[in-house]
Amino acid sequence: MAARAESLDPSELEVVVTPMRRRHLRGVLRIEHRVYPRPWSLGLYMSELALPSTRVYLVARVGTAVVGYCGLMTVGEDGHITTVAVDPAWHRRRVGTRLLLALVEQAVGRGVRDITLEVRMSNAAAQTMYRHFGFAPAGVRRGYYVDNAEDAMVMWAHGVDEPAEVDRRAALAAQVPGRTVLEGLS
Ligand SMILES: CC(C)(COP(=O)(O)OP(=O)(O)OC[C@H]1O[C@@H](n2cnc3c(N)ncnc32)[C@H](O)[C@@H]1OP(=O)(O)O)[C@@H](O)C(=O)NCCC(=O)NCCS
Repeated sequence: MAARAESLDPSELEVVVTPMRRRHLRGVLRIEHRVYPRPWSLGLYMSELALPSTRVYLVARVGTAVVGYCGLMTVGEDGHITTVAVDPAWHRRRVGTRLLLALVEQAVGRGVRDITLEVRMSNAAAQTMYRHFGFAPAGVRRGYYVDNAEDAMVMWAHGVDEPAEVDRRAALAAQVPGRTVLEGLS
């Protein structure tokens, strides 16, 4: 059984971060439909998972429940974050931070040095989280989001393999309460 978010002391929270598998997709899609106006389909996730040489998809679990997930596409030394989402019942427990920490480590392990993403101009929560990881605004894609024609802020984090960035992530990891267990990740 999954622990209930609201009754849990953060210091007792154990989050497992593990590669996304087909068996996680029901939980992934449940969150997807809650947090995104144009959720990705099962087929889209399946096609992403079928490209393991250029994709990294991770889920966060509490007990048996999927509470968040993230993904990244690699193009040579560039990484492109395709999604990060956390079940609203589990927000502000550093689940997103745990996922991004693991995702960036996986990217660096594959030779990625610079990482980019798009985020809605109105999404201050995600922008703040990304800034903690060293992402900075680098441009705007006008009308990028088709549901409401909102602009996207393009953010980049450069030199994610360099010591200063490794130290930045170590400091972030040290502030994460409870335990994070990496399962099936090298
Ligand atoms: C963005 C998202 C993934 C963050 O997940 P999360 O697990 O709640 O984030 P964390 O707990 O790791 O937050 C880390 C820090 O980011 C900032 N942050 C996160 N959510 C925030 C919010 N709602 N308001 C203000 N700051 C926020 C805070 O600085 C936070 O640290 P703090 O809680 O100590 O203040 C989550 O809000 C989400 O799933 N949103 C919907 C999907 C989405 O927007 N994805 C990003 C698409 S680009």
